Amino acid sequence: MESIAKRPQAEESESELESLWSVPSETISLDTPDVDVWRLSLDIGPTALQGLWPILSPDEQARAARFRFSTGRQRFTAARGLLRIILGLYLDEDPGKLKFCYATHGKPYLTGSELRFNLSHAQAFGLIAVATGREVGIDLEHTCSRIDHESIAEQFFSPAEVARLRTVPRSMRHDAFLACWTRKEAYVKAKGGGLSIPLDQFEVSLAQDEPARLLNVGWDEREADRWQLVDLAPGRGYVGALCVEGMALRLRRWQWPDDSWLSRRR
Ligand SMILES: CC(C)(COP(=O)(O)OP(=O)(O)OC[C@H]1O[C@@H](n2cnc3c(N)ncnc32)[C@H](O)[C@@H]1OP(=O)(O)O)[C@@H](O)C(=O)NCCC(=O)NCCS
Repeated sequence: MESIAKRPQAEESESELESLWSVPSETISLDTPDVDVWRLSLDIGPTALQGLWPILSPDEQARAARFRFSTGRQRFTAARGLLRIILGLYLDEDPGKLKFCYATHGKPYLTGSELRFNLSHAQAFGLIAVATGREVGIDLEHTCSRIDHESIAEQFFSPAEVARLRTVPRSMRHDAFLACWTRKEAYVKAKGGGLSIPLDQFEVSLAQDEPARLLNVGWDEREADRWQLVDLAPGRGYVGALCVEGMALRLRRWQWPDDSWLSRRR
């Protein structure tokens, strides 16, 4: 178990960052302060994929079928299938029987359960956050994406964030942009509004060596004290951030073990 104070530092070696992610023991349960983040590979073998397909709902299968390329279809199937299996472990329920509902802007949730969750995927990896009785949002991005970060920042970040980004040395600006982007996305995903929430109306800390923090929110001055942001160090080539409602937090990072867990029950 790890406290919120354990924040990944830029100088930490890859093996130290890897050691943040552990394989869970036999059983999984969640106390109120716990927030679990699961790291998954979405490139799983054909047998595992075949096992996941029947547990998807008809609308999920239809969504999967709409992907033009098989890689997208397989990764969506893996993400939704593993999400169902992981939630089923906490709830001690058949993953195929879980019924997702969708809030106005598309955030999936389970009715009649205190369990809250959120998913993010980037290329071959996914992150799933799970908590009880408090909202969570998570975002994962691949660092190598060829993007024009300066024009995206100008379009979406607040004027103060754009100004702070310009003070970051050029060699570190791409990383700072991604740290800021994932922190902002994690917040709007925790709120459930997604990109319908204007990203330039609130500010987060920006540099990778700054603690992740919601600094201020234009439409409500108390909002920044209601949410915590955490950087996740998901692994080489990826940046991830988590946003959690409320202050007490025990973060646990789990690595999804392997296909043998596909049939695991609590
Ligand atoms: C949510 C959003 C920020 C996702 O951004 P992204 O970086 O492309 O994707 P990510 O991989 O991080 O997250 C996608 C996952 O977040 C979840 N999600 C979808 N909408 C969400 C929302 N509004 N809030 C939180 N989570 C959401 C889903 O699980 C989704 O994955 P899945 O559909 O494969 O299960 C973006 O798609 C968005 O703003 N959507 C809202 C669109 C909207 O307003 N729609 C209204 C009509 S439904």
